[in-house]
Amino acid sequence: MMKKKCAAITGVGAYVPPRILTNKDLEKMVDTSDEWITTRTGIKERRIADEETATSDMAVKAAEEALQKANLEVEEIDLIVVATITPDMLFPSTACIVQDKLGARKAACFDLSAGCTGFIYGISVAAQFIENGTYQNALVIGAETLSKIVNWEDRNTCVLFGDGAGAVVLKEVAGDAGILSTYLGSDGSGSVLLKQPAGGSRMPASLDTVEQKLHSIHMNGNDVFKFAVKVMGEASLTALEKCGMGKEDIDFLVPHQANSRIIQSAIKRLKLPEEKVVVNLNKYGNMSSASIPVALYEALQDNKISSGDIIVMVGFGAGLTWGASVVKWL
Ligand code: UT7
Repeated sequence: MMKKKCAAITGVGAYVPPRILTNKDLEKMVDTSDEWITTRTGIKERRIADEETATSDMAVKAAEEALQKANLEVEEIDLIVVATITPDMLFPSTACIVQDKLGARKAACFDLSAGCTGFIYGISVAAQFIENGTYQNALVIGAETLSKIVNWEDRNTCVLFGDGAGAVVLKEVAGDAGILSTYLGSDGSGSVLLKQPAGGSRMPASLDTVEQKLHSIHMNGNDVFKFAVKVMGEASLTALEKCGMGKEDIDFLVPHQANSRIIQSAIKRLKLPEEKVVVNLNKYGNMSSASIPVALYEALQDNKISSGDIIVMVGFGAGLTWGASVVKWL
């Protein structure tokens, strides 16, 4: 089925902070080892933002590059969506702060919370506005400073996450290029598995919540792992089916970068050769909603994606949420 208007990715930008924290560094902080982290996750190092850097600062840097690559003026942006679980503040939205820093006066702005699937949710929402003719140009950003909400004494979580931002410009194009389909899923019964318990209305900040470290990430890693292995392949296949395609049509896979074993299971399910998949979690760890756009950015830098290619982007995360998007590269 040919859509009248499509939302195509016309520019991609990324930013990661310069400070590198290696597995060897972590060995000095918690009871862990480079060997454990490497074999269980594939992660070797991650980037950590400095004290002054908040999520919006990195989001702006990634957005500026995406705008430049798309050859788009800031005044032309109609919509800014920031997918994040580490906003600058609970409110106002980080998207509004980004708007101000960019000077994108015309844009409507909001944040979107869908855990590590945030970027897939973000492009899906923005694409609707473009496909129905409401907007022509949207900026979708996935940005996280997870280092600020990690409990650096909890080896179960602190070795996994990193900071960074990725951004794309979505633009209205005619015909059947750009985002061909998106599939989103949620299962709130899994909300207990991955969360930041305190700081919201359920458990407002108090001396007690700070002392008990309830403002940091709490995760049942093993259950999230099993869920991820199940949904990564399934979500990709469902999104492909929605636009009349199958796994044999995939030219390139951009999976969420949480764990190399989860990515391997998706590769197996989709019967893909390794060269058709981007893996960069060894350098950055899990950057939640920034992982997919940064991985897409690096695949483009490495000339792994060409015009006309069918790309599948797929993710999973807190919520629980999952989702995949099929894109015909412009
Ligand atoms: O983007 C969504 C966010 N979350 C995820 O994607 C996480 C998905 N889950 C995972 O990637 C994996 O479950 C982990 C990497 C978190 C853990 O791997 P696992 O194979 O599921 O290990 P496990 O949780 O079953 O733990 C195995 C052991 C435990 O020790 P015992 O109880 O068997 O003695 C842990 O205490 O490994 C221990 N362990 C560690 N050991 C050394 C946990 N973290 C560490 C560590 N260093 N950093």
